[in-house]
Parts: sequence; C-alpha cells; structure tokens
Amino acid sequence: MVNCNSREYVVIIGGGRRGAAILETLKNDEEVKIVGVLDVNEDTPGIKLAKRLDIPTDVDFVKFIKKRKRIDVIFNATGEQYVDEKIRELRPEIEIISGLSLKLVWGLIAEREKAIALQRDLYRNTIGILTSKMESKNVWAHGHPEKVTEYATLTGQRMGLLPKELEIIKCAGILHDVGKLGINDELLLKTERLTQEEYQIIKEHPAESESIVKSMEFLYTVLAAIRHHHERYDGMGYPDGLKGEGVPLIARILAVADSFCAMTSHRPYCREKTIDEVLEEIKRCSGTQFDPEVVKTFEHIIKERFFESDIH
Ligand SMILES: [Fe+2]
Ligand SMILES: [Fe+2]
Repeated sequence: MVNCNSREYVVIIGGGRRGAAILETLKNDEEVKIVGVLDVNEDTPGIKLAKRLDIPTDVDFVKFIKKRKRIDVIFNATGEQYVDEKIRELRPEIEIISGLSLKLVWGLIAEREKAIALQRDLYRNTIGILTSKMESKNVWAHGHPEKVTEYATLTGQRMGLLPKELEIIKCAGILHDVGKLGINDELLLKTERLTQEEYQIIKEHPAESESIVKSMEFLYTVLAAIRHHHERYDGMGYPDGLKGEGVPLIARILAVADSFCAMTSHRPYCREKTIDEVLEEIKRCSGTQFDPEVVKTFEHIIKERFFESDIH
C-alpha cells in the first residue's frame, strides 16, 4: 500500500569526539534514522565520520533548518543553548528536545520510530477500509480510484515528478472521491439534469474528502491535491476557483486522469465513448478546464497505450 508521508527529525551534534561516538552508535542501530549532522566546523571527527557513513552534513545549520520543511523534532545534543534559541526563532513550530543525555536521546528516537511505524500501519488499515467501502458503492464499481491513480502516476512520471510527489499521487488518486461516500448512489448515478441543490451536494465532495483525510494526520501532504481535483485551469472550477498554476500540479494531473477515467468507464445511462472521442474531448478542454502541459503529456501516454502506431 501507500506510504505518503514521513516526518523527519534531526539530531544536532557537535562534530567532536562526542559526535563521532553518536555516529558510531548509529551505525549499528537499524531503528534509528538520522537526517543530518551539523557542525559549525567541517573538519571534525563527527562530520568526517558522517560523510563516510553517507549521512548528510551541513555546516550551516540555519540554512539546513530553513530548507527541511518537514522536520518534526530536533534533538539538540550539542549542549549549546544558542542552537535552541536559533531554531525557535527560525521555526517556532518545531519541537526541540535538548539537554538530555545521549542515551536518552537514542531511547527517545527509537520510541518515536516505533510509534510512527505503528501509526503508519494504522493508517494503512484505515485506507484499506475506506477503499473497500468505496468499492461497494456503485459509482466506483469499476475500480475508478485505481484507474485514476494509474493514469495520474504515468503522467506524473512522464512529467518528471519526484518519488515523494508520485507517492502523493498514489494516495490522492485513491482517496480523492472518498467524500462521495456520504452521497447516495441515486444522486451519483442520476441521468437527468441535476437541480442546483443536487449539484451543490456533488460540489461539496472534494472538501468532504479533504476533511475525512485530514483526520489522518499522517496524510497531510495529500490534502491539497484532494481538495483541488475539481478546480479548472481557467479558474471556473470548485471548491475554491483557483486558477492556472495556482492549482497544485498534482491536482491538475488528477483532474485530467479523473475526467478521462470517468468518460471511458461504462455508464448505464449513456453510450460508451471511444478512447479517441474521449481524448479529443480532453484536448478540446486544454487551456480551459485542463492544464495544457498536462494534456500534452497525457495525450502521449494514451497514444502509447492505445494507438502505438500513432507515435512517431
Ligand atoms: Fe471528484
Ligand atoms: Fe473521481
């Protein structure tokens, strides 16, 4: 299953013998993961050993702390109070643990890792339950979330997204419509024109999906993609009317994959469209509903998959 997010902690150590000793311990401890080792001086046993162990080092800890957006906890094992003060000033939201013995720091890290692993298992189970609930709804009978995920992932890969962004696509692809769980099938499958009131209910599902996923703190990185998967490139979408690149890229990718899958899936109330017709429809909406760059990549993927001979 998916692993959408991992929080980071940083251990700040001095680079002297004490630092080197910490790293020696680390070397043999599979449970402990160190994101970075910092010191003001590059020519110290701690930093040298970190480099040998392939652990990122950075002598400029201010820059380091600023750029690592997902740091959860910093263990300050330097014994230097100014380090705490500087971190508090730069990133007041980060938890700082300092003044502890090394043994205690390691103990805390190991405990934390275990807790995170447990949390991850719990969330995986929760996603599993949500997915099977979704499958029991008529509207997803044909594996819609999985198909959206597949096409969005292929598009993301082709657009050069990072592995962690592809992970977000996986989570958001599976969960983007989870907010529809609360809407009855009758409305979701209605063939006649929706009343304004009914359309309003449908329009609430991205925010509803977001609020369900929000309760799983672990998945916070996927919230924006879920919330905005019905925004349009021209700003006429919902829920927030975001426009152009103001719509998160992953949401722009999901929007194309989502529409493609919806239009190519078998729907009892209308004639099944051919892949050709659907692709034409997507291209027609490039620049209005969809991001032209995403459409271009998507077209390539569809042609490769369905009309191999059209690729020159
Ligand atoms: Fe949706
Ligand atoms: Fe969808």
